Amino acid sequence: METRLISRNFAEVDSECLVVVVLDHGDKQKSEPKLAFKDAALDKAIAELVASGEITGKANEAVMLHRPQGLRAKRLLAIGAGKAKNFGHVELRRAAGTAVRTLKSRMIKSCAIAVPELTAGAEEAVRAIVEGAYIADFDPDTYRSERKDQSMNDITIAAPPGLDPVKLQNAIDQARIVGESQNFTRELVNEPSNRLTPTMLADRAKSMSQAVGLRCEVMGPDKIKELKMGAFWSVAQGSEEEPRLIVIRYEPQGAPEKPVLGLVGKGITFDTGGISIKPADGMEKMKYDMAGGAAMIGAMRAIALLKPKVKVIAIVCATENMPSGKAQKPGDVQIAMSGKAIEIINTDAEGRLVLADGLHYARTLGCTHLIDAATLTGACVVALGNVNAGVFANDDDAYQHFSRGLQRSGEKFWRLPLDTEYLEAIRSNIADIMNSGGRWGGAITAAMFLKEFVEDTPWLHLDIAGTAWLDENKSWIAKGPSGIAVRSLVEFVRSYENSN
Ligand code: BES
Ligand code: MN
Ligand code: ZN
Repeated sequence: METRLISRNFAEVDSECLVVVVLDHGDKQKSEPKLAFKDAALDKAIAELVASGEITGKANEAVMLHRPQGLRAKRLLAIGAGKAKNFGHVELRRAAGTAVRTLKSRMIKSCAIAVPELTAGAEEAVRAIVEGAYIADFDPDTYRSERKDQSMNDITIAAPPGLDPVKLQNAIDQARIVGESQNFTRELVNEPSNRLTPTMLADRAKSMSQAVGLRCEVMGPDKIKELKMGAFWSVAQGSEEEPRLIVIRYEPQGAPEKPVLGLVGKGITFDTGGISIKPADGMEKMKYDMAGGAAMIGAMRAIALLKPKVKVIAIVCATENMPSGKAQKPGDVQIAMSGKAIEIINTDAEGRLVLADGLHYARTLGCTHLIDAATLTGACVVALGNVNAGVFANDDDAYQHFSRGLQRSGEKFWRLPLDTEYLEAIRSNIADIMNSGGRWGGAITAAMFLKEFVEDTPWLHLDIAGTAWLDENKSWIAKGPSGIAVRSLVEFVRSYENSN
């Protein structure tokens, strides 16, 4: 999909379809739809639809008009974006997405989107539109013989005259990088485990790295054992597929020595649960258990192209979690790379095992700040559902960086606690720590387990189990892999540029 910029009065925009955003200025009793910008010609074009009540401005409403009077465009698509007082980049991102998915389903492959007035400014508006459009353009039907996926050919960002075209073009270029990187992550997450083994995931990371100029190193079983990654290996040992330790480095010229940000991802390409095997029902979804790792790889792609002056190292621990004669068993004791002894209570709590060694390894590589992402616990899904992902932090300053990033990414994360009392649940009689703390506070005890391996390094943990896979279509995004965390990771990294 191509994106271009034009600067013109909206009535003069020549397109298959001109997309405009409509906001509701009314109260609870009565809607009062108005265009999200001032334009007399466009007001006139939608006047009848407003009068008839067909356009109300409510979120994700889509009303199409053919041969709109007084406009050069062949069609006009009015997209509702909710209450005017709540309108921001999050709503605009979704509105742009709804427009793209509405048009795609009607085989209209080209459109112009009118840039609305946004309090945050036109560049922010353009960024939201372009990100939303790329995210909406993705469909997960990769292996359908008659692929329904009708990608858009091109999108024109129609800006009103008088804005700085260089700044707007820059916003488009950056948003495209972010949107395409999020989609790259979604493609990886979408792949079934027979088409994305740990080896293939590493190959994909390698070719992406080559394409964007990143250094990528891939290590196999010998190196993993040599590094004494006993926790990572304990998960990998049960599988016929070899594990891969993927390390991607972004070390731009002119970046300060510190900070060095470590992005550590859970890359379980399939999670059967191992000997503590999962029920058959819904197990097919466990191909997405590498979503945290894929988020890191997608974020690195964006970072390489956006070129912030900050050092970043991504580490993805990729393996299957399988039952077999070689698989680890409940009760086994494993020695992690850090030297800590772990009693395995449940082989299905494998994510924290691979991350324990991934996080420790990141510290040995010189990372000064750590952030991990993982589809770690069902308990996080119970706590926060599919709306918010969980975030944990052992350091308020690092959390502030992340939280500022959220304000730009528009993704939803909710902070959960890490009180030392929770450690009680994972004390072991035979070893230093157990890999499961039982049912209560399961998302937190999993995070507490990870915390034991980061020691005093500032660290954030993202539990994306409930948000990495969408079970239902939304008007602005297809069901399937969501690409959650990619945008927030990119903003997190950017927040360290010139920060100390
Ligand atoms: N990959 C799962 C967590 C998960 C559950 C992700 C549902 C997405 C949706 C993880 O490896 C796991 O199995 N966790 C266990 C931990 C338990 C055994 C302590 C869980 O949450 O049940
Ligand atoms: Mn598991
Ligand atoms: Zn898992």
